[in-house]
Amino acid sequence: MSNVTPFRRGTGEQPDLTAGRSRGMVVIALASQADGTGRTMLAAHIAVQAGLTGDGPVGVLDTDPKGALFQWWNRRQGKVDAPAYGALCDAAGIALTLDGMRAAGARLCVIDTAAGDAVALAPVAEIADLVVIPSDADADAAGQAAALGRALSKQATIAFVINCRGHSGGEDGNALAAMSSGGGWPAGTVQHANAYAIAMTAGRSITESHAGSDAAQDIAELWTNLRGILVAG
Ligand SMILES: Nc1ncnc2c1ncn2[C@@H]1O[C@H](COP(=O)(O)OP(=O)(O)OP(=O)(O)O)[C@@H](O)[C@H]1O
Ligand SMILES: [Mg+2]
Repeated sequence: MSNVTPFRRGTGEQPDLTAGRSRGMVVIALASQADGTGRTMLAAHIAVQAGLTGDGPVGVLDTDPKGALFQWWNRRQGKVDAPAYGALCDAAGIALTLDGMRAAGARLCVIDTAAGDAVALAPVAEIADLVVIPSDADADAAGQAAALGRALSKQATIAFVINCRGHSGGEDGNALAAMSSGGGWPAGTVQHANAYAIAMTAGRSITESHAGSDAAQDIAELWTNLRGILVAG
């Protein structure tokens, strides 16, 4: 992770994520207006990491008709600890599917979405405790992500992630700070690593396939920060 000052809260004892407004299950949605920002990769990695830190049982819900997160979840079955629940549904089915996961015992659900604008994403933001918006570090992309965050902040708490998916130059935290200066939490920077694609294809997370790597550390820190933001409410 970059040298951005991460948001941290609650060292020591681990507060219950579901104590707040979530009626027993926290909902995190990945969202962006641009294609290919890393929503699916981050949804999968957040789900696995939350399970590792004892915040499960975790469910994953894919609302993107392309179904990449659901396919990843299916590839995990029988191989490694999978999120306990996985589903694919359209916008009309989200509320019912979440109710089913909650009733079945999930304590956290991570939702992947199709790329969309604030109007298209509003129904998901309305049922999410936290909307995580990943973006490239360049000014145009970060500006678009910040605008989406401002619009969706009427419905949910917003967290921004710089995901350096397309290059290996890294990001020094300036873009993240600028993006979140108008509102929303700076949740962290995920540096470029080819291992993400390898892990996703294998139905794994980088924390499993490349344990101890810098990338695994990025994901662990990202979840620590997102967790802190959720607890802060
Ligand atoms: N930090 C990263 N480093 C290297 N590659 C990455 C990183 N993040 C994502 N990728 C790769 O970038 C591509 C796009 O990621 P992903 O599919 O998660 O994005 P998406 O926002 O869900 O895209 P789509 O709009 O197609 O649904 C994938 O091949 C993924 O493996
Ligand atoms: Mg996707």
